[in-house]
Amino acid sequence: MVTHHKIIFGNCMKMEEIQNESIHLIVTSPPYFNAPFDYKNLFDNYDQYLGVLKKVAKEMFRVLQQGRIFVLNIDDMLIDGVKYPIVADAIKIFQNAGFKYRDRIMWKKPDGYLRISRRSGVLLKNPYPMYFYPDNLLESIIIFQKGKFDYRSKSQNIRKSSIIDTKEFQKNGWYKTLWEITNVLPGSLLEKNIAAFPEEIPYRIIKLFSYVGETVLDPFLGSGTTMKVAKKLNRNSIGIEIIRDLEEVIRKKTGFDKENENINLEIINRDKGRFRYVNLEYIKKKGNGKETKQQ
Ligand SMILES: C[S@@+](CC[C@H](N)C(=O)[O-])C[C@H]1O[C@@H](n2cnc3c(N)ncnc32)[C@H](O)[C@@H]1O
Repeated sequence: MVTHHKIIFGNCMKMEEIQNESIHLIVTSPPYFNAPFDYKNLFDNYDQYLGVLKKVAKEMFRVLQQGRIFVLNIDDMLIDGVKYPIVADAIKIFQNAGFKYRDRIMWKKPDGYLRISRRSGVLLKNPYPMYFYPDNLLESIIIFQKGKFDYRSKSQNIRKSSIIDTKEFQKNGWYKTLWEITNVLPGSLLEKNIAAFPEEIPYRIIKLFSYVGETVLDPFLGSGTTMKVAKKLNRNSIGIEIIRDLEEVIRKKTGFDKENENINLEIINRDKGRFRYVNLEYIKKKGNGKETKQQ
């Protein structure tokens, strides 16, 4: 089946290229507020970060079709000993934008596969009260819905071609609110410096919440994981990414680096205006605190 894919290089706080109610599923993982390794100092303060989520929430609600699902992978962030309640704040923001909060799944990474620090080591060095900091093995996968889905809107043929393998569903524990999935390991070549999620996350979500031939949006595309999986599962996709330099990584990951595939890929470059793309150099400068203000 031929599917179509579009990458918009620009800021997803505006999605002007995407028509109202034209998207069937949104799967995404935004940058975590000033995450020490990936996004240090990217935002001037927490309110600015929440402001970005508010703008994106409004646009997501506009482009998503009635009845359909938006899935957000996000987690609270600990910076300098202070935990920022991103999950709770994001749920409120997306509810205020009009979404119904439908469910929450905890994604559990395997023991020993931690990407960042082993904080519990502090107690091993100082085995006394007050030195306890737990290692974080969990992230949230939050499921929102826009209104009610009309189950009769899909033909028998489309339902059949999108059927979910119930053996896989049961064997791999999709039915639980705890998904045990190995995270992308540090040092993975394509995902270097991108906090990519493992393919298994968009794979389950795309299978569970979209039909073959529909369009999946990831407004924080990163290395292109959602686009790769959507393509493999015969769904169309749109991805928005602010860092222009990621084109090569996305092409490699999605298989669009091969000549014959190119006809199914459209690239839009927003190089002007408030919501234009930026380059890696800009992000690096910002991370070092040498430049101020993200739009
Ligand atoms: C957590 S990563 C997403 C990783 C992705 N799920 C993957 O598997 O590769 C977030 C991405 O959003 C991009 N980004 C941050 N702010 C953005 C914005 N306002 N508009 C579009 N993309 C943005 C970052 O450059 C980064 O690549």
